[in-house]
Amino acid sequence: MSSEDVELEARLEEQEVFEPAASFVEGANVSDADIHDEFEENWPECWERAAELLDWEEPYEQVLDDSNPPFYEWFTDGTLNASANCLDRHLDERGDEAAIEWVGEPVDEDNVTLTYDELHGKVNETAAALRDLGVGEDDVVTMYMPMIPELPVAMLACARIGAPHSVVFAGFSADALATRMNSADSEYLVTCDGYYRRGDPLDHLDKANEGLSGVDHDTDAVVVDRLGRNGDDFGHDLGERQHDWGELMADHEGATVEPVDRDAEDMLFLMYTSGTTGQPKGVKHTTAGYLAWTAWTSRAVLDIEPEDTYFCSADIGWITGHSYIVYGPLALGTTTMMYEGTPDHPDRDRLWEIIEEYEATQLYTAPTAIRAFMKWGEEYPAGHDLSSLRLLGTVGEPINPRAWKWYYKHIGDEECPIVDTWWQTETGGMMVTTLPGVTDMKPGSAGPPLPGVDVQVVDTDGDEVEPGRAGYLTVNRPWPGMLRTLYDNDERFIEEYWAEYSDIDSDDPDDWVYFPEDGAKIDEDGYITVLGRVDDVLNVSGHRLGTMEIESAIVGVEGVAEAAVVGGDHPVKGEAVYAYVIVEDGQAESEAFRAEIVEGVEDAIGPIARPERVIFTPELPKTRSGKIMRRLLEDIANDDELGNTSTLRNPDVVDDIREVVQGD
Ligand code: WTA
Repeated sequence: MSSEDVELEARLEEQEVFEPAASFVEGANVSDADIHDEFEENWPECWERAAELLDWEEPYEQVLDDSNPPFYEWFTDGTLNASANCLDRHLDERGDEAAIEWVGEPVDEDNVTLTYDELHGKVNETAAALRDLGVGEDDVVTMYMPMIPELPVAMLACARIGAPHSVVFAGFSADALATRMNSADSEYLVTCDGYYRRGDPLDHLDKANEGLSGVDHDTDAVVVDRLGRNGDDFGHDLGERQHDWGELMADHEGATVEPVDRDAEDMLFLMYTSGTTGQPKGVKHTTAGYLAWTAWTSRAVLDIEPEDTYFCSADIGWITGHSYIVYGPLALGTTTMMYEGTPDHPDRDRLWEIIEEYEATQLYTAPTAIRAFMKWGEEYPAGHDLSSLRLLGTVGEPINPRAWKWYYKHIGDEECPIVDTWWQTETGGMMVTTLPGVTDMKPGSAGPPLPGVDVQVVDTDGDEVEPGRAGYLTVNRPWPGMLRTLYDNDERFIEEYWAEYSDIDSDDPDDWVYFPEDGAKIDEDGYITVLGRVDDVLNVSGHRLGTMEIESAIVGVEGVAEAAVVGGDHPVKGEAVYAYVIVEDGQAESEAFRAEIVEGVEDAIGPIARPERVIFTPELPKTRSGKIMRRLLEDIANDDELGNTSTLRNPDVVDDIREVVQGD
């Protein structure tokens, strides 16, 4: 490093507040300094600004119907179609422009550009094919697909015919697929034969078939031949009621399907996410509120304009990909990128190579990725021209100030504002973040709530905490992008998100408070720093995993008597899975058994949930009422000073476990 660099590094390290560069502010979509006040004064009508970004078939009558909290309804009586909003209305002006730039994992892949005209054509053909298979309005279609262009095509085709989709992350296991299809009564699956990971083809259909065998009703499946383009093949034969995507498309070539008029509150999709019980929650999002929310935040926060080439490196199997690869960007008529592979294949500069080649204008990624880039070294981005980038974003977990500053300097060249966006599957889109053209940035802190969003940090009684003190995040007013309920389970919806801080017998919306189950603190300027989950949910590499789900997978392994899972700090992943396991009498505590446990978790959930460590222990620390003291297990995992052990029935066990962990 030159002495100039050292100086710069030192300056960056100390700097706590960063102003967005004037060059950015000048051209920003939103640069109105009074916007927070304006929205406050004009709430909830302020959200007409979001609804105006959409094309409506029938105009809505009322912005918000809050007569039956927490079952809020937005833009009531309006009708529209999400696929028409993402495609048809752009055709006149943007028909020949790229809607999707898809980059395959193999470096010699023929990458795919889909113009708005082409994407519109494919979505129509797919919609016609799905309809012919019997998919009707409100039938849930499951998609179990990796990052291939057919995934957004299928999603938009479903939206076109009013069939909600439920996308299951391709890295999830067969069991996870079956659970979700059963829970949503989904009779249709769109999947593919395989995809590429680090240069090798990976079988996917085997896993999909195994999942289907666990579905308790009849299903039709459509299978994309992804590997065939490259001459690879796992030699699968399609089974009965399995249809080849390519043949279906050929049969429906040139077909057109009128977009179905959907009610504002009709379900657009379901997305399963982890909660405190072993059973994943089916989060329900609606057509108008969700689309308005993702379009508005894509415009105001990601600063997307139609001429941009916007790159979000998330997977569409998670909410970030739904909202900020597919719906938000396409609603705005921009070019959205999709990358099939990992950032380190064939080398650790793959993302920078892609950004340079496509002249990407925004990058939206996760802190985990940024920490990995940092570890790999600045020479990887330095070897590429990244000057096309105008804005950077992060999502999914807290970002430490060091990683933030590295991102700011080495990727953004100190010119690009960074938006650190706090939100959840349930919120549909961003809730707490700076507006890049308006607000100063503070590394490590997501920022103030968005205009019109009322987020507070409170204590256990629901009273606001002093600046600087830790508390719990709450959302005190509804917002258009909010989940409407959990699929088929209004009771659990109230229990999980509202019961904690609301008067659930009241029908006054002021008595209802949404609890996202995150800890946070707020500073004197109203900037919120999110500290992490306060429930039994881990955040591993920005992915939400329920400890209960992992525990039930482990207990499912023969020879395991009991298990407790907690998160331990991890320098790259943020958190890693630590599994404390008690074996049954006669079961050896061997390496082989450890491997079996890891495999059990991979089978039940997927490799993302793989325990970093499996620790055999004769006992778990428990309170007198038999509750496992996870906090102590976390302290042990992190080698922290132990919390209070006086309420334990078996205080000695803690030292025993610690010895095992340190000795391993
Ligand atoms: C965490 C991902 C700190 C948080 C969009 C939340 C964050 C959970 C941030 C939701 C952030 C998300 N700073 N923590 N900027 N963004 N989180 O549903 O704990 O996969 O509750 O949605 O991720 O994860 P989910």
